[in-house]
Parts: sequence; C-alpha cells; structure tokens
Amino acid sequence: SETKKIAVISGDGIGPEVVAEAQKIIKVTEEVFGYSFTMEHALFGGIAIDEKGTPLPEETLQVCKSADAVLLGAVGGPKWDNNSKELRPETGLLGIRKELGLFSNLRPAVIFDCLKDASTLKPEVLEGTDLMVVRELTGGIYFGEKFRREGAGGEEAVDTCVYNVSEVERIVRQAFEIAGKRRKKLASVDKANVLETSRLWRETVNRIAPEYPDIELEHVLVDNCAMQLLRRPSSFDVIVTENMFGDILSDEAAMLTGSIGMLASASMGEGSYGLYEPVHGSAPDIAGQGLANPIATILSVALMYRLTFGYAEAADAIERAVAEVLDAGHRTSDIAADKSKALSTTEMGDLIAKAIRKS
Ligand code: NAD
Ligand code: IPM
Ligand code: MN
Repeated sequence: SETKKIAVISGDGIGPEVVAEAQKIIKVTEEVFGYSFTMEHALFGGIAIDEKGTPLPEETLQVCKSADAVLLGAVGGPKWDNNSKELRPETGLLGIRKELGLFSNLRPAVIFDCLKDASTLKPEVLEGTDLMVVRELTGGIYFGEKFRREGAGGEEAVDTCVYNVSEVERIVRQAFEIAGKRRKKLASVDKANVLETSRLWRETVNRIAPEYPDIELEHVLVDNCAMQLLRRPSSFDVIVTENMFGDILSDEAAMLTGSIGMLASASMGEGSYGLYEPVHGSAPDIAGQGLANPIATILSVALMYRLTFGYAEAADAIERAVAEVLDAGHRTSDIAADKSKALSTTEMGDLIAKAIRKS
C-alpha cells in the first residue's frame, strides 16, 4: 500500500520513552499488515526551547503539516516551570493544537476487565464502563485574553473565557455523530448555572439536538459530573464539554481505568488528519527510569490507525494485543499489585509487539 507519513514529536520526560514503544508497534504492524510508513522526528516542548529557543519551532510545525498524522509523547518539566509564557513547553502544545486546527480531543476510557482491581474504585462500580470524553481543544479560558494589571488590591491576573457559537456547534456536532456510532447517549457538561459561555453552550446544544432525535441527551453541571463519574461511571457513553472541564474530567476518567498511563487520545479537526498522544504528561517523577506505562501511547497508535488511516484491522490487533498481555498478568508498576514484579517500559512494549506478531 501507499507510504504514509507520521510526524513524531517525542517531547520531554517520559515522552521519548513511551513514543519509542509506540514506534516499535508501528514497525511491527508494517511487517504484519504490509503497511508502509515514514516517520519524521521533530523537536517540540522543553527540548525545543533548549535547542531552538522556542517550544514550537517553525520547522516542527512544517513537519507536522506535511505529515498525514502526528504522534506526540508529552511535554513539560520542572526545568522550564518558571519560564515566561512564550518559553513554556505547554505553550507549544496549545500552539500546535491551534495551528493544526485540532478542535476536538477524543479521550476514550475503557475498562479492561482484568484491571478492575488496579482502579481505586470498587469493581462493581466500574463494571461495564466504556465512555468517551469529547473535549473542545482550541477555545475557552486556555485561549482567551490573559493579562496582569494593577488593581485596588495589588497586582491582578485576568484569564478570559470566550466561546463563539460556531466553535460550540462544530464540537457538539462531532459528539452527536460519535454518540450515534456508540450507545447513543450524550452528556453535555457545562456550568450553565453560573457561566455565560456555558449558557451559550447549552443553548447551542439544545438547538442542534433535534437534528439527532435518536440520541438521548442529558445536560450535567460539571461539579455534578465530577461526582457522577465516580458514582455511576458505566452510565456515561459520550461526554462533550469545553476545554478546561474536559481536561479535568478526563484525568478523573483515567483513574477509572486504573492508571493515567492507560488513557489514549486523538485530537482531530474536520477531516481525517489527527494528532495522537497519551492523556498523561511528561511524568518528571519517573522519567528516565524505564517505569512509564507505554500503553496509553500504544493505544493512541490504534486510534491513529482507525481515525486517520482507516486501518481497522491493525487497530483491532493492537487493542487485542494489549488486552492479551494484561490478561496474562503483565503489568508496569503503575498498574501492578506487586511492584517488585513490575515490567519496564520496554518489556511491556516488547510483549505487546510479540502478541501482535502472533495475531
Ligand atoms: P503527569 O500526567 O505527567 O503525571 C501525573 C502522575 O501520573 C505522576 O505521578 C506520574 O508519574 C504518573 N504517570 C503519568 N504518566 C504515566 C505513565 N505513562 N506511566 C506511569 N505513570 C504515569 O502530570 P503532572 O505531573 O501534573 O505534569 C507533569 C508535566 O507534564 C507538567 O510539566 C505538565 O505541564 C506536563 N503535562 C503535559 C501533558 C502533555 O504533554 N499532553 C499533559 C499533562 C501534563
Ligand atoms: C493535557 C495537558 C495540557 C492541557 C497542558 C499540558 C497544556 O494537561 O493535554 O491534558 O491542559 O491541555
Ligand atoms: Mn491534562
């Protein structure tokens, strides 16, 4: 088949460690399924600040734009935490999402049966949980005007939260479409009892809803949603919400699966182009020690195959291989009951690669 191009931006901390395992999986699927990929690496995040003086160098953006999809590790770390906004790794992450028009961040949280004990929640509460957070990614308080000023009480800091109707419409439509292909339930999460942006959000959802009569819609206030996610996680199917609420709720949803090291994500625009990354960050506390769980990044490759390339067979094979390896009792330390028996990042990647070869 035709050669596809993947831009690989590993970033900082455990980013390069988990991305190396994901690349291992990509190579195995080339052998097994006959795909052909070129992978072009580019500097991004803290390492790009150190080497190029900016978290998102122009050439990195070009590498991403010229590719069919982007594989991203994670960025950030204590070394850059006190930098000014322009020289922060996280600013690069927001920039790349905006520049590539990736307004829709899909974060599926699926419970692997054998991992029910790895979660801090009771297994019977988790039973049947299979949800997807659809997070708006290029608007809201992350991107509104920010400034400092002198006020009566001393220095003031201002972050503004802005959404326009078309930004809400496009993400909500995607969420309705996704729900239509799943269990046909959509929870729209907002804070419409307080925030004007949330009131516009809810009005827009209600205006669009009649176009999707087969989808069961509920509006949930974000504080209640945070609680319901722990009380009745299995009752959720698709959750659609604005940028910051989605950031927070998806980390919460990650713990349903046992570890944030398990949660994959896809960031999409209108077409099939996408950026794929684990939900977790650069985990400076475990970086460089071979302790990171690579499954979130490996499952992000499965999302890439499904959503950008339409390689459903390989996506299934990856997801099956992960389930098989977990079923056989293999664990990295974040999900291991007995940490002394935990596997390293590369051992986990190798086992998943082997399981795909056998499939
Ligand atoms: P984090 O997700 O990096 O880590 C939170 C906790 O989860 C840590 O204890 C870490 O060891 C653990 N963890 C995370 N990923 C893991 C994995 N794959 N396997 C095992 N354990 C894992 O969040 P944080 O500590 O709040 O942030 C660290 C840095 O990462 C910050 O600079 C932050 O801005 C950045 N960050 C980046 C991204 C991204 O690049 N998309 C996302 C979140 C945070
Ligand atoms: C994420 C991260 C980022 C976000 C940060 C690092 C900018 O937490 O991808 O979830 O808040 O979007
Ligand atoms: Mn986050």
